[in-house]
Amino acid sequence: MLRITARLLALVVGIGLVSPCLHAQQKPASAGHQWWQNAVFYEIYPRSFADSNGDGIGDLNGIASKLDYLQALGVDAIWIAPCFPSPQVDFGYDVSDYENIDKMYGTLADFDRLEKLGKEHGIKIILDFVVNHTSDQHPWFINSASSSTARKRDWYIWRAGKAANQPPNNWISAFGGSAWQWDAKTNQYYYHFFYPQQPDLNWRNPAVKDAMFGVASWWYKRGVAGFRLDAVDTLFEDPALRDNATLPGKNKQGDPNMKNENNTKLPEVHQVLQGLRQVSDKYDAVLIGETWTADVNELKQYYGEHGNELQMPMDLMFTELKFSAPVFRQHIAGIDASGRWPVYVIGNHDIVRSWNRYGDGKHNDEIAKDMAALYLTLRGTPIMYYGEEIGMQNNDPVRKEDVKDPIGRTGWPTEIGRDGERTPMQWNDTANAGFTTGIPWLPIPVTYKTYNVADELKDPNSILNWYKGLLALRHQDQALLEGEYIALNQDDPNVLSYLRRYKDEAALVVINMSASPQKVNFDLSKQGFGSGVVKTLLTTQPSLKNASSVKQLSLEPFAVYIGEVTK
Ligand code: NOJ
Ligand code: CA
Repeated sequence: MLRITARLLALVVGIGLVSPCLHAQQKPASAGHQWWQNAVFYEIYPRSFADSNGDGIGDLNGIASKLDYLQALGVDAIWIAPCFPSPQVDFGYDVSDYENIDKMYGTLADFDRLEKLGKEHGIKIILDFVVNHTSDQHPWFINSASSSTARKRDWYIWRAGKAANQPPNNWISAFGGSAWQWDAKTNQYYYHFFYPQQPDLNWRNPAVKDAMFGVASWWYKRGVAGFRLDAVDTLFEDPALRDNATLPGKNKQGDPNMKNENNTKLPEVHQVLQGLRQVSDKYDAVLIGETWTADVNELKQYYGEHGNELQMPMDLMFTELKFSAPVFRQHIAGIDASGRWPVYVIGNHDIVRSWNRYGDGKHNDEIAKDMAALYLTLRGTPIMYYGEEIGMQNNDPVRKEDVKDPIGRTGWPTEIGRDGERTPMQWNDTANAGFTTGIPWLPIPVTYKTYNVADELKDPNSILNWYKGLLALRHQDQALLEGEYIALNQDDPNVLSYLRRYKDEAALVVINMSASPQKVNFDLSKQGFGSGVVKTLLTTQPSLKNASSVKQLSLEPFAVYIGEVTK
């Protein structure tokens, strides 16, 4: 009840929202969807969300203090990037204990409190499971490295060199240099796809599998609703350790480009995903994948042939598309034709913020609203990235000595690292954007004075209120929740239009992805909605609030129009 009240409030605030047709007591009945299909996910980089104790680093109690905000925004589940004990070489993606919380983020008791409060706010917790590697400070690796006959020697990948001072093969670490680290104590190399401080686990060892599946159950029993699986592609390596083919040119770290054919995307990955899924199914939990794929066919594989692997492999190709109606239309058609449940993402902690990436340098706010309208009204589950809802921008370091992310130091200046997209959440226009009373771990861009939660809440035209309106609508509108995707006006080079149709209901979404005014006409008789009558649900364009027909709509540059059409 509380939740619905908050959403209705959001509706009132959202400009352009006309007669939303909602009933507080009524949530649309689901056509058999799982909870994660109707949910909106939100990624939190815990170092940067909210600092409760003034040490300049965000923490679990900070997140707990913002649950009201997240609830009012319309978030149903938060994915928290790794908050486990870690030497922080890769800011938590180097875990030294999977079953605890790093002191800088709080305690297990804080986690339990957050989980309980989350439940009260209707917000589930998703943790980040770093499955490919541990920290070199994890007791498993410390034992493994202690001698060549250690009990856990075979938990990691150890090999002799090809010859003196020559690693076992030519594989390159994604973070620079050889993927093999020499260990003088035991006269062997160990393998690390990422930093040397992130040794790869040997998933061919059943004990590793058991231990990691045990970790998953341990958190599920604590109330976690699922995991985002980190770097799943890198779980297995060719047992014969064959060299990879090299490609022309060098990468940003100055290493030869390489086709990672023998150390990524091996078929064995799918057996692990199936096993993890069996564990998850016992707890009605969801598995989200960090799945970087070249095309839809590759993405399809992560769902499992029988839908028995990841429920939510992320469509990260979406983040690589150019802001253009035909480009998105074509991509969405491919995903939709795959017959799987799409998982759309426009940003995360590893890529430049969506505001900058899709923006044209002049209309970035408008484009941010277009992108929000697009991925929050498509058929599928969206995963937001904190701060995108207020138009947060990259704040990239300009001097090497300021860089915190190690890949930015080793690769400078071609690779500047990921600090820019990880800066503290901008809560208000007071010192440090209200993120901390101390010194923030990363500098906050001056734009926080205008792009911040408190100010945007007051502005009916803000990006934040646009997001709130969209999220409220997608939770209440049955066609948006359940409807099929039907592309319209497929030859239009500027305006992306589609219908979300569910039984007798349909929502029309129209997005002008161009900087010039556009006129569009719709005849929806083939789709069974030929009356042409429309009722506006949400629009960025005040003159369209009272539109009554879809026969012709005149759109301002970058305008979004969402309306309910009738038969
Ligand atoms: C993907 C994570 O998103 C990234 O931040 C991390 O550096 C690598 N995996 C290694 O764990
Ligand atoms: Ca803190």
